[in-house]
Amino acid sequence: MNMEFEGRALTDDHIFFRSAGSVNPVVDRAEGIYLYDVDGKRYIDGMGGVGVVSIGHNVPEIREAAIAQMDKVCFAHPFHWKNMPHMELSERIARFAPEGMTKIFLCSGGSEANESAIKLARQYHVERGNTSKYKVISRWNSFHGNTIGTLASGGMRVRRDIFTPLLTDMPHIASCNCYHCPFGLEYPSCEVRCAHDLEAEILRTGPDNIAAFIAEPVVGAAGGGLTAPPEYYGIIRDICDRYDILMIMDEVITGFGRTGRNFGIEHWGVVPDIICTGKGLSSGYTPLGAMIVHERVFEPFRTGRGFAHGYTFGGNPLSCAIGASVLKYMEEHQLVGNVAHLEERFFELGQELLELDIVGDIRGKGFFMGIEFVECKETRAAFPPALNVSGRIADRAFRNGLIVGAGKGGIDGVHGDHINLAPPFICRESDLEEIISILRISIEEVRRDL
Ligand SMILES: Cc1ncc(COP(=O)(O)O)c(C=O)c1O
Repeated sequence: MNMEFEGRALTDDHIFFRSAGSVNPVVDRAEGIYLYDVDGKRYIDGMGGVGVVSIGHNVPEIREAAIAQMDKVCFAHPFHWKNMPHMELSERIARFAPEGMTKIFLCSGGSEANESAIKLARQYHVERGNTSKYKVISRWNSFHGNTIGTLASGGMRVRRDIFTPLLTDMPHIASCNCYHCPFGLEYPSCEVRCAHDLEAEILRTGPDNIAAFIAEPVVGAAGGGLTAPPEYYGIIRDICDRYDILMIMDEVITGFGRTGRNFGIEHWGVVPDIICTGKGLSSGYTPLGAMIVHERVFEPFRTGRGFAHGYTFGGNPLSCAIGASVLKYMEEHQLVGNVAHLEERFFELGQELLELDIVGDIRGKGFFMGIEFVECKETRAAFPPALNVSGRIADRAFRNGLIVGAGKGGIDGVHGDHINLAPPFICRESDLEEIISILRISIEEVRRDL
């Protein structure tokens, strides 16, 4: 395709790329589970963007909802106005959420949602007279966003180390990783020591200083689908209750159906205090995030000075109309049900990759799968990071027409290679088979080069 701008060739000279020297192709259009570059080459969106695209690309109903709203009003600041799409979206989210989680605070993405939760937890305790509570405990090998506050409360070293003098010193506990247990134990004889590490850290730091604990139900970029055993979040809930600490679930990836339930934490039968979401809430049709708050946590904000926090684009009428139409579409097409229905087949296909000698572990839930690569299956030893195994596999898959997510450092922040798959919820069995088949070929190609 001829890329022209005002009669001359269009360049990317003025883009401040995230990665130095981006060689990515230029996207032209997308439809269903596919994206097309400007030369017409087709790619399967095996990563749903990055755990974003749920209902598929270019759905006409979403376009119509956006246009209908643009014909009315696109911006009206919440200082001055309420708006109907804001009300509708909030109602739809509350309907999606666990019992009692009915208060919705909107923003523009996952980092903003988690940042809001950190601030809400702080103010919640201040309003109740516990003014010394402010620290947020998180886990190593977790990711909660790229703002300073969420990085401080996250544990993904490749993204946070360079900024450490800037970050507030938030406490971290061990990750929950049965394939490389941080305590060298085995489940179930470990008695889920990693969950009890929360209590040990609370006692070390002092319960009077801790406002909240934050975790992803299934770890995304930082851990490639790390999934806790059945008892884990029940233990966490009890500990949080015992020390008056809010339990925040970062469901930016796992929320809105990705794991085959409305929210990932439902797999553990636990109701948290706050759920933070983004990505799949709008399926990528607009930047959108939400903090979903339990009524008991909202109580101190019902009267008085309210929440001392907010964003210019929170509750934006256009974004809300788009988000509401995405959730309506998901309900009408029972897409969470489709994920639950095909989960078993998806993981059956994934397990077949274990036949390859560098595939060590397959994990995750629903349509979120992590695939870990190891140099030696017996010892579970990782490849040297400099080999960039996951990056090479992702590049090869891309060349083969499949988009996947590459991750590193899932074991200890430095070592470990994984690939994430997060396909759109509209995938059929045959699509999942094609995704795994292209991935298998790509792994074999890189294996031969190693
Ligand atoms: C679990 C998790 N939390 C938070 C974020 C940050 O979301 P955003 O990039 O929309 O700010 C991400 C993004 O990848 C994520 O995966």
